[in-house]
Amino acid sequence: MVTRRYAIVGLGSRARLFARSLASSPRAELAAFCDPSETRMRVHKGWIGASVPGYRPADFAAMLEKEHIDVVVVCTPDHTHADYVVAALHAGCDVVTEKPMTTDVDGARRILTARRETGRSVRVAFNYRYNPVHRRVRELLAAGAIGEIGSVEFGWLLDTAHGADYFRRWHRDKANSGGLLVHKSGHHFDLVNWWLGSGPETVFAFGRLFFYGERNGRRPTAPDDRFALDLEASPLLRALYLDAEREDGYVRNQDVFAPGVTIEDDVSVLVRHRGGVVLNYHLHAYSPREGYRVAFSGSSGRLELEVRENEYPSGAEPKAEPGRARLTVQRHWEPPEVVLDEVLGEGHGGGDERMLAELLGDAGPDPLGCAADHDSGLQALLTGLAANRSLATGLPVPVDDLLGEIGEPG
Ligand SMILES: NC(=O)c1ccc[n+]([C@@H]2O[C@H](COP(=O)([O-])OP(=O)(O)OC[C@H]3O[C@@H](n4cnc5c(N)ncnc54)[C@H](O)[C@@H]3O)[C@@H](O)[C@H]2O)c1
Repeated sequence: MVTRRYAIVGLGSRARLFARSLASSPRAELAAFCDPSETRMRVHKGWIGASVPGYRPADFAAMLEKEHIDVVVVCTPDHTHADYVVAALHAGCDVVTEKPMTTDVDGARRILTARRETGRSVRVAFNYRYNPVHRRVRELLAAGAIGEIGSVEFGWLLDTAHGADYFRRWHRDKANSGGLLVHKSGHHFDLVNWWLGSGPETVFAFGRLFFYGERNGRRPTAPDDRFALDLEASPLLRALYLDAEREDGYVRNQDVFAPGVTIEDDVSVLVRHRGGVVLNYHLHAYSPREGYRVAFSGSSGRLELEVRENEYPSGAEPKAEPGRARLTVQRHWEPPEVVLDEVLGEGHGGGDERMLAELLGDAGPDPLGCAADHDSGLQALLTGLAANRSLATGLPVPVDDLLGEIGEPG
């Protein structure tokens, strides 16, 4: 069996999933870590019980050469993805990057150019595609269960624990994350692109910071103590962040009402897809419960998916509880048919594990096209970038304008 040598850059919480899988896969050798924090690299080595050489970001290129790396897994803050993806491609490596592929037009242009020049592969870790319920939606739509699709309604609720977490750390600055429209909604826009088999054409958005941030913190309905994340109380948060704070100054539990929040917490987006389907999307990050609803209206009926996740947060620390999904198809003049009504698996509905198996080459064929490449990464990003531009200009944004700036055909 051929094994490939992997390096992970960015050893925060998301890297744990990749480190564990790589350390136990017969197809992979976990050959190097790269992060500014020695503490976090040490914690990860402890978790997997292996001695992996650790490098500083300044030594990234030297690390790739010295450790003969074949594949780089990028788990750093979003605005740094493009630099690592481009450097890895030019060093002859393939790349698996966490979403979003990048956060701006410049990053997209650089990644797509480097990919073309090197011919290496870029995979984006869109794990939501691997959730069995989302796969079922794709199968049903592709099989014509509701005929030709006319429009999509999609609403996503983040609760006051999970949603608040984006306002405690680097995500709160739009320059780091692209805002929730890029960082979080990118998952949802990717799902819609994949479900429909088409990308965005025109995007219009409204959005604002309604609940978190300095001004909203003055409301009596925003009690600080509900949002104060106790790093001491969680072994994982303590090891990864509190114990590392002195080393690099990364504060994981900033006050969600402190100054410096430049992202929105409530966004509405209208997207006309190529081919004419219209998506009506909404996300907010201060809901009392967590979950989502997506509905497709078609020429012969309607498909509805409702997922209820955490009913209410028990504290400030985000907890992923298994959700319950109900998927129905209703054809015109017929009663609704319940396709499934069941509890979802852990780790994004079991999607994380399936995605890892596929990324490591341990999965079978992929008839639904779950594997997301650079183009899927770009298409998901385009909706978020266009929505951000629409927020800034107040106008609908033709996606071809962005593609022109990126240097890709419309
Ligand atoms: N697919 C998913 O469901 C999912 C879930 C969580 C996070 N993510 C993605 O994973 C990535 C990491 O998120 P996280 O929650 O683990 O963040 P984190 O803050 O916990 O970890 C980020 C790590 O990157 C390191 N880092 C910072 N700047 C760096 C640089 N210039 N070079 C190298 N390392 C650097 C930090 O020291 C830290 O160890 C993000 O892109 C995020 O969008 C995806």
